[in-house]
Amino acid sequence: MLPGNLEKVMFGVISTPVLYLAVRYQVFTHLVANGPAVAADIAKDLRIDPETTERMLLVLTAFEIIQRTRGGQYSLPEEIRPFVDPDSDRYIGGFVAHLVQETAGRVALLDSYLRHGKDAVDGSDLQPFTSLYRDDHATGRFLKAMWDLSFAPSKELAVLAGLATTTHLIDVGGANGPFAVAALQHSPRLRATVFDLPEVEPHLKETRAAHGLGDRLTFLPGNFFTDELPEGDCIAFGYILSDWPDDACVQLLSKAHRACHDHGRVLIMDRLFDESRQGPLATSAMNLTMHLETQGRHRTADEYIALLTEAGFRQAELHRSNSDKHLIVGHK
Ligand SMILES: C[S@@+](CC[C@H](N)C(=O)[O-])C[C@H]1O[C@@H](n2cnc3c(N)ncnc32)[C@H](O)[C@@H]1O
Repeated sequence: MLPGNLEKVMFGVISTPVLYLAVRYQVFTHLVANGPAVAADIAKDLRIDPETTERMLLVLTAFEIIQRTRGGQYSLPEEIRPFVDPDSDRYIGGFVAHLVQETAGRVALLDSYLRHGKDAVDGSDLQPFTSLYRDDHATGRFLKAMWDLSFAPSKELAVLAGLATTTHLIDVGGANGPFAVAALQHSPRLRATVFDLPEVEPHLKETRAAHGLGDRLTFLPGNFFTDELPEGDCIAFGYILSDWPDDACVQLLSKAHRACHDHGRVLIMDRLFDESRQGPLATSAMNLTMHLETQGRHRTADEYIALLTEAGFRQAELHRSNSDKHLIVGHK
């Protein structure tokens, strides 16, 4: 018998695509909407092949993502449901799609990276967002993944950030607004500007309309490497610094220091490695993903605090959340 951990890692090649296809063909949506059902009925309703459906459901059962009764009915455990229900704000379907549609295609590069190094394989000018934003459909998919990954954690991060006296939040690389929206919903007197690449603008406008935020939420197009950042009393970086190497992070944080009002603050919201670097698992996995898809990496809290200090921020505070995304605050 293989040790369970080894078995799960070995069959990752099966489990991730099956999870993705169950999302894509709405198998989970069916279970959420209709409750327990046998594979044949699920397949009939979704107009997909019954035998393939049954085999996939058996895989998901063995991985304990769904449950199977003796009578052959499948159902969702309570702890899994919010993450696979498209109507829940903890839904991770968009991010699973990103892993399969974007990340998986690059995994083969690891072989070349091992032999030649990332720099030699990618060349010096890998521009992650040129590829991710190759057309509006791909841009929309990426931003959907960001929303799924960030909106639910942002509700807690907006509370931890203590925005009661903040007047103008600048969300640098704020995408389609997951943190800006959570912050505006939490703090009624706040206004927010998302500063991001021009391709993102229509997607932020959609979010603004969907959440009825009017002129409290504005978009400023720009490139954070070639433009200065807009001024505000709180400058946020959510999943930004993990896309870039240390020298670029110091450049961005120094721009934030210039853009930040006196007595203002910078917020870094990102995954963190434990000081021992033994985990968490999602940070270790995403650290490799960052290597494949970006020029960045994940860091410990102390490493982020060192970057903040180099850029001129003081009195760094670490606020751990209940999600994978934590908050480090620096003061000007
Ligand atoms: C990983 S996403 C993070 C999105 C969001 N802040 C979050 O926490 O989910 C990185 C964001 O940085 C933006 N971005 C990348 N390069 C940029 C640049 N040079 N200037 C401005 N924004 C950029 C992308 O468009 C994207 O929205």
